Amino acid sequence: MLNFEYCNPVNIVFGKGQIAKLSKLVPEGVKILVTYGGGSIKKNGVYDQVMQALEGRDVLEFGGIEPNPRYETCMKAVEIVKREKVGFLLAVGGGSVLDGTKFIASAALFEGEEPWDILTIGAEVKDAVPIGAIMTLPATGSEMNGHAVISRNSTGEKLAFWSQKVFPRFAILDPTTTMSLPERQVANGIVDTFVHVCEQYMTYPADTPIQDREAEGALLTLIEEGPKVFIDPTNYNVRANLMWAATVGLNGWMGQGCPQDWATHAIGHEITAFTGTDHGRTLALVMPALWKHEREAKRAKLLQYAQRVWGIQGGDPEKNIDLAIEKTVEFFKSVKIDASKRAYGLTDEICDKIVNVFNTRGVRLGERGAISGKEVGEILKLCAE
Ligand code: NZQ
Ligand code: ZN
Repeated sequence: MLNFEYCNPVNIVFGKGQIAKLSKLVPEGVKILVTYGGGSIKKNGVYDQVMQALEGRDVLEFGGIEPNPRYETCMKAVEIVKREKVGFLLAVGGGSVLDGTKFIASAALFEGEEPWDILTIGAEVKDAVPIGAIMTLPATGSEMNGHAVISRNSTGEKLAFWSQKVFPRFAILDPTTTMSLPERQVANGIVDTFVHVCEQYMTYPADTPIQDREAEGALLTLIEEGPKVFIDPTNYNVRANLMWAATVGLNGWMGQGCPQDWATHAIGHEITAFTGTDHGRTLALVMPALWKHEREAKRAKLLQYAQRVWGIQGGDPEKNIDLAIEKTVEFFKSVKIDASKRAYGLTDEICDKIVNVFNTRGVRLGERGAISGKEVGEILKLCAE
């Protein structure tokens, strides 16, 4: 097991009706800026619940944070935070709203030249406005981590940052708020969660049996619960299990001490930047191809996954790996994601551009840094046509 240091300060408030607790969770005596997206919270009643719970408090609002939140939009909110001396940010919505809010919180107190430097050169986030979250889309795990992913319109970039300062102070997770999600977003969330777990698991054995079994437990749960939500969308327990899976999938816990591989995400973010494809869908496209490409490096874990998650064992190990990858693709289809390059407009020309991005950045992806631009190109070739 690798060395690690883990501190997760998020107060999780989970279950039906928990939004009513807001007034106790948000500190007194500060100006609050409620941030949200394109209006889903106004249609499903979450906005009304929030405003009712915050009655009598000094509340401003900032709507319009788009999916794949944009730097340009976030900077408009930064002006409000500075001008109005906002002391608390309350993000209400999906991962994009919360990620945007994490960036707003950091940019508002940023002392360097341009807050974009936080994303490009990793400029340190020395302080951030405190954040609370009400999550209405189980997917990113952003509610219990310090990550945020921000896109910039003018340059076509999509970049991530991490800071201990942007962990939410609390996150309210009421599974009933997820019942208004369109099927497409439900599917995205299930696949995103599945791939978060895999990125922390599918590397090489590092004698981490607790973490491995936590990961396998989460994957098995997603395989069991995922398809149910499409048949029985108002089933509270299914919604609750999917919501909790998303949180534990990327709150960092199950990956501590483990080698990790975030190459699928890195490639997926570029596909989104160039084609606008939903985050979860890019992952469903890339991960099976990446596993095929990296089958030697990931061999032991692929076999463990085949056996413990899919019950495939004995016989020819090569066939077992192939079958486990096939089962994974079938699982994505069972939750309504049939990923292909054609469906997402991922042409050869765009693939070349993505390879260029990685060549220019010079980053080496994968658990052993074995994936550079050239390998990214090979992986993109292996993606389903
Ligand atoms: O904008 P509104 O009107 O709220 O509608 C949203 C949006 O259109 C809608 N929605 C959310 N909750 C709803 C709802 N519609 C009906 N009922 C509800 N209860 O869903 C749409 C998509 O929302 P978005 O927040 O974009 O989705 P998601 O939560 O999947 O977030 C995706 C973003 O998170 C980043 C992705 O790259 C992408 O930018 N990620 C963040 C991570 C993190 N912070 O740790 C890790 C992830 O790997 C990921 O990269
Ligand atoms: Zn993700």
